Amino acid sequence: MFESIPMAKPDAILGLTEAFKKDPNPSKINLSVGVYKDNTGNTPIFASVKKAEERLLAAEKSKSYLSIEGSKEYGDAVQALLFGKDHEILASKRAATAHTPGGTGGLRVAADFLKAHFPGATVWLSDPTWPNHPNVFQAAGLACKTYPYFDFATNTLTFDKLLEGLRAVPKGDVVLLHACCHNPTGVDPTAAQWKAIADVLAERGALPFFDFAYQGLAKGLSEDAAGVLELARPGVEMLIASSFSKNFGLYNERVGALTVVAGNSDPAEKAMSQIKSCIRANYSNPSFHGGAIVTTILNDPSLRAEWEGEVTAMRNRINGMRKTFVETLKAKGVGRDFSFIAGQTGMFSFSGLSPEQVERLKKEYGIYIVGNGRINVAGMTDSNVGVLCDAIAKVL
Ligand code: LMR
Repeated sequence: MFESIPMAKPDAILGLTEAFKKDPNPSKINLSVGVYKDNTGNTPIFASVKKAEERLLAAEKSKSYLSIEGSKEYGDAVQALLFGKDHEILASKRAATAHTPGGTGGLRVAADFLKAHFPGATVWLSDPTWPNHPNVFQAAGLACKTYPYFDFATNTLTFDKLLEGLRAVPKGDVVLLHACCHNPTGVDPTAAQWKAIADVLAERGALPFFDFAYQGLAKGLSEDAAGVLELARPGVEMLIASSFSKNFGLYNERVGALTVVAGNSDPAEKAMSQIKSCIRANYSNPSFHGGAIVTTILNDPSLRAEWEGEVTAMRNRINGMRKTFVETLKAKGVGRDFSFIAGQTGMFSFSGLSPEQVERLKKEYGIYIVGNGRINVAGMTDSNVGVLCDAIAKVL
């Protein structure tokens, strides 16, 4: 049976790391997948995470199953991180959270839930978006369309066109929004723009679905929830997929969440009962370790303060590296204006390099970036930024 199966295309992001590992070039640099590196090129385990793990190891008495949706403490901690612990959504219990394997797991569980209950709904994705978004929704059998997001000529949000696009979304469709650190562009709406987006989606009766994978990497943990909070108006429904891969450095623990917000507690409970059915038919129930680390840190004042400091340090290093990158390009004689990169947020710089230039970086210099020109700034270090900028200068 399997002999007739053709080879699948490599993944647009993870496929590059596979190719990178096989590349014999001794000076190769991997700036494709969104993984943070410190200035020495390591992806460190947070000190707060290590301490939480030590506590967990000492206290653990059983490896019995978690419930289908994971622990209540985890769900409560995730909601408090999203909305703030005093938010009306928490008091009225109109949100319910399931612990999922990473943010991607949260997206896929939501996709299965949407397909089961709203099979005709289309999911609207920003143009451009994370290349795995359409894969996830289409794999669940949902149709995807795009709304304008980015002006490739000016490297800015194409806000009027974005609103125009959202005004055309039919009632009952789903609009996928990047809560912060838009992937791949690094360009987020301002507070006033979030308000306008919230107004249009409310008018249209479309369901907002936030992908929140970089909380804390743009401006700060609570600041980065500005879009979520603007849309979380009384009675408004939404979905949120959270990832703790980046802001806790827990990539390989696969820890994320799906939060459903309903008009009040009764539909939230019913929706979660259906989400649990989707989970049971998929991976049954989540793994313990990563979620327990997150819960331990968020609920312990001293670990939490340490973690917040580590997130701040990570954000500051990335922002500093953005400036260094722009300055080094200039110093290497690149005439094109890349100053916009310093104003983007999150891990990625959407460089505007063409697919041909990206290919040359890989083939001739062993430098791996995503085909759409996305460069992982969080993978740059003082020792590789010069080599990178030299190569960019050459391919330009
Ligand atoms: C990325 O965009 O590089 C990250 O979200 C990692 C991934 O799974 O693609």
